[in-house]
Amino acid sequence: MTYHSSLIQELTLEEKIQIIHAAGLFRTGAVERLGIPSLKMSDGPSGVRQEFENDVWNPVDDTTDFVSWLPSNTCLCTTWNPELAEAFGKVLGEEARGRGKDVILAPGINIKRTPLCGRNFEYMSEDPTLTGRMAAPLIQGIQSQDVAACVKHFALNNQECDRMSVDTTVDEKTLFELYLPAFYDAVMEGKSYSIMGAYNKFEGDFCCENETLLQTILREQWGYDGVTISDWGGVHHTEQTALHGVDIEMSVTSDFDEYKLANPLLEKVKSGEIPETVIDERLERIFRMMERIQLGKDTRKKGCINTPEHQQTIQHIAEEGIVLLKNDADKLPLKPSVKKILVVGDNARRTHAAGGGSAEIKALYDISPLLGIRMVLGGDAQIDWLPGYYVDNEKHVSGEVDWQAVSLGVDYTTVQGREQFDAAIRPKRERYLQEVLDAAPAYDEIIFIGGLNHAYDVEGFDRPDLTLPYGQDEVISALAKITKNLTVVLINGGPVEMPWIHQVSSLIQTSYCGMHGGYALARVLFGEVNPSGHLAETYPLHLADTPTEKYHSYPGEIDDNGQRHVHYAEKLMVGYRYYQTEQVPVLFPFGHGLSYTSFSCDDFRLNVRGKLQEPDFSVTVSCQIENTGSREGKETLQLYIGIPEEGQPDRILRNFHKVSLKVGEKKEISLTLKSRDFATYSPEKKDFTANSGTYRLYLGTSVENILYETTVAL
Ligand code: BGC
Repeated sequence: MTYHSSLIQELTLEEKIQIIHAAGLFRTGAVERLGIPSLKMSDGPSGVRQEFENDVWNPVDDTTDFVSWLPSNTCLCTTWNPELAEAFGKVLGEEARGRGKDVILAPGINIKRTPLCGRNFEYMSEDPTLTGRMAAPLIQGIQSQDVAACVKHFALNNQECDRMSVDTTVDEKTLFELYLPAFYDAVMEGKSYSIMGAYNKFEGDFCCENETLLQTILREQWGYDGVTISDWGGVHHTEQTALHGVDIEMSVTSDFDEYKLANPLLEKVKSGEIPETVIDERLERIFRMMERIQLGKDTRKKGCINTPEHQQTIQHIAEEGIVLLKNDADKLPLKPSVKKILVVGDNARRTHAAGGGSAEIKALYDISPLLGIRMVLGGDAQIDWLPGYYVDNEKHVSGEVDWQAVSLGVDYTTVQGREQFDAAIRPKRERYLQEVLDAAPAYDEIIFIGGLNHAYDVEGFDRPDLTLPYGQDEVISALAKITKNLTVVLINGGPVEMPWIHQVSSLIQTSYCGMHGGYALARVLFGEVNPSGHLAETYPLHLADTPTEKYHSYPGEIDDNGQRHVHYAEKLMVGYRYYQTEQVPVLFPFGHGLSYTSFSCDDFRLNVRGKLQEPDFSVTVSCQIENTGSREGKETLQLYIGIPEEGQPDRILRNFHKVSLKVGEKKEISLTLKSRDFATYSPEKKDFTANSGTYRLYLGTSVENILYETTVAL
């Protein structure tokens, strides 16, 4: 079967319409008469989601949909390793095909504008260059398996608070320089076969119906010939969508024939209000995608699930994604010969795969940190666990109750009477804390494993603040007072405040890092793996320091009609761009990550070739990097530039390279920039241009730890 556009002529109007909207919660309509099957879709960014009934939001209670649980996109991104992104994509694509899917609703690449966003764990970074550089190979990896990636959510979907309706405005320059580049890379470099429109509005129009985003930018300026798919329930109007909105309408209810691109569209085409050609154009793109994924061909890859190779890749990504944030006096790694260990905290035992909203996974298995520690240490060590803090059923409400969460049976109703509630749980917290303080002196090492969970890192809700929940600050601080042998591990989708930071000597940060996460963590803790992750977002000291707080630009205001508006008043000053420029001290800077070995860099050189506007122009910064410690390890060199233009941040990441070095090994590293790396967007010219001027260059191992700094006049 070939899905050639000539097929369009053979379809009746009714049949054409079947193909452009859902006929099931996760599939489009088929036209069996002509051998055109449904497109079968599935979430999501961390693996292939469980099966749902066709028209009810009920999981099919089956045992055939257990799959490999991949690390979150946040964890993948902290590897700063594009090769691992491709390997990740290949696993995801193979599993998607192994489950018979045609489209996998991943990756999530929205910019982390505020650390409060509940879906940040599904996204990569606060920086578009890093996001784009990781997303493109990931998408290629997926699509190498004859499955379409569906990169999401286009665009400006940066908060969950009123996510289905919030109206976002942002100046054009910021849009093009900060919020669109990763999507540009995803479609131009990654060649994503499909892209998902976002729920929110942009300048008054829903993103799934938005002419500026979907036609002017995506089709006309970028020349995108792939398929646009709505977020589930993101389409609201027939005409607007038919004329300049998404190609395929998906939603969450079972009245499929009443979807906006179903009967209502049929009527309008019949009455001549909407030309049939708008449907034909969609079919052309959909058939093109069917061809690209080899739909119905014998040669199509058939995929596989739950293979040992997948599990190995997942472990490798988790190991590289773990970030060593602090390690005073080389406290870590812990000695594997240690005999008595007390592990404290709910996240030591909790498995996270089944939470978070649409990124939930029915994991074949999920190795908790406590199990991982047992796997690494074997049977001779005494490993005890205490909760340390009490996890109540506290739920926060900063968005509407969400159907994804409701489908999971989670009760997100507001906790009434906060004070009574606190009073009821306080005695429990005090008891748990006392228990741990009494026990601690008898142990050689205490490992606190806490952080957040999917009550906080979750679709549909933003976090209320950046504090660690369940009274964890008090537990960490109290433990730090009575023992030097304390290691803190936080498992989070994003930053938290750490008022106890100066009391602890060693700190590890991981995101939700897949089915081998606990084992990977244990291998890092006990030195089987040398950590090499680097933060892909800034950890601010306090919520009050974040740019959206400073500019009062989150979560926006509600007008008299109940419409929420958010204006990105901070413009380009998001994440490290803001903290660096305004010299706001942070807890841990963007790009930060330590190793158990040490590196030294020297012999820095700058090489400029050609003229800024010429095609062969390049600027290369080179250096020699040497592993000067006693273990093999990896370092990530990061190249930032300072653009001499009013309103630009002090420094912007433009290139990076992760290098592996054996003990004593020395390598030459070169990081190259092209003219587009010096370009900024001009709203007047409606294009990017690189202007002459004196640019600053910074080479470092984080945005703050700069090893070499120079200027170049171009
Ligand atoms: C989410 C998407 C997801 C879709 C299908 C929506 O609520 O925003 O990311 O792919 O549901 O589950």
